[in-house]
Amino acid sequence: MSNRMWGGRYESGPAEIMEEINASIDFDRKLAPQDIRGSLAHAAMLGKTGILPQSDVEAITQGLRTVLGEIEAGKMAWSRSLEDIHMHVESRLRELIGPAAGRLHTARSRNDQVATDMRLWMRDTIDAVDGQIADLMLAFAEAARAHAGLVMPGFTHLQSAQPVTFGHHLLAYVEMLSRDRGRFADARRRLNECPLGAAALAGTSFPIDRHMTAEALGFDRPTANSLDSVSDRDFVLEALAAAAITAVHLSRFAEEIVLWTTPQFNFIALSDAFTTGSSIMPQKRNPDAAELVRGKTGRVAGALQGLLMVLKGLPLAYGKDMQEDKEGAFDAMQTLSLCLAATAGMVRDMKPNADAMRKAAGAGYATATDLADWLVRALGLPFRDAHHVTGRLVGLASARGIGLEELSLAEMQGVEPRITDEVFEVLGTEASVRSRRSYGGTAPDNVRAQAEGWLARLRGS
Ligand code: ARG
Repeated sequence: MSNRMWGGRYESGPAEIMEEINASIDFDRKLAPQDIRGSLAHAAMLGKTGILPQSDVEAITQGLRTVLGEIEAGKMAWSRSLEDIHMHVESRLRELIGPAAGRLHTARSRNDQVATDMRLWMRDTIDAVDGQIADLMLAFAEAARAHAGLVMPGFTHLQSAQPVTFGHHLLAYVEMLSRDRGRFADARRRLNECPLGAAALAGTSFPIDRHMTAEALGFDRPTANSLDSVSDRDFVLEALAAAAITAVHLSRFAEEIVLWTTPQFNFIALSDAFTTGSSIMPQKRNPDAAELVRGKTGRVAGALQGLLMVLKGLPLAYGKDMQEDKEGAFDAMQTLSLCLAATAGMVRDMKPNADAMRKAAGAGYATATDLADWLVRALGLPFRDAHHVTGRLVGLASARGIGLEELSLAEMQGVEPRITDEVFEVLGTEASVRSRRSYGGTAPDNVRAQAEGWLARLRGS
């Protein structure tokens, strides 16, 4: 009760609701390891600078280690009356070591303490997520190498556009995920400054050594402005933005899984491990994991939006509003981690249906661009004219309900007399993808080489 600001005036209802709205311990207990790491570094610095006698520092250090052990063993008694993780640790430390515990908070405030804890937590979390993204990239790259030459339809507007290979399609996600890693790495680089020692907002009159604590905690340097140190959570925003973009990438792939596993597409199959049945319709194999990856994107993007709104319009420096950075960030990063693991599972589980993909690749006049390109190359037509001639040939075939390759040479020559039977060589989907050798194109050799390159880089990293 000693931490209560309101004394006896709020014994009944309002005091309880004040406690309920004020307490963060239900969620910020997650920060216990980071909080204690920060306190250990702070205590060591207070000893080194002579601000605290070494005997106190030793007692504090031993005590903090005990508190951490108790928390990890599930032995900590959590109580909303102690508000947050910082007060819990200090209060338990006092029970263990007595009055020396009260000296730990010298030259420090909960404001710089919580800012430090969050940076440490986000840094740890980014490192874990980065490893998961790398693993997902590996799963995609392995599948891409295995299916470098498997032809499937490439879509624009979800209409058949041009044939591509399945490997090429999968490597598109490897590129996206690689940029996601880059965004997390950027966020990590910028957040890696230590706010500890900014104290409440103005710095401190004690002769602290902020470089020492920054270094002990693995930060590149101390933050330069004490007000900024305690009042911004842009590092959380940046990580959430990176998380939201990653989640959107996962969601797009999840949507493709949902489409591709329908009987109508039938491009891939997921095993029993990643589908569920229906309680009424015995034939169903629902891609629930993919749907949930798609659906959970909302929470991740929502956390970013939510924190933007929390911070907007906050005057400097610390305001209790900032306590609202935590639940969204914790949930978003945990959700992203779950979605990354589920997606890697699905990528490793999925089996392409090569026949259905190949068949679909030829449907919808997907090699019409190859025909137009041939007219340019073989007959010297300007591309716009070639486009027009091809359009007429597609119209002809479509009116008869047949493929371009099923038109006779005579029928083609009826539209453009100079066409020769060499044209039939470019109308097949295999020939089409083989011809797309431009850098970054879908030719199977390109795809194989790129998949190999990714595998070597990912395995080396
Ligand atoms: N639980 C608080 C938070 O998460 C810790 C900082 C409290 N500071 C204060 N001046 N009341 O933001």
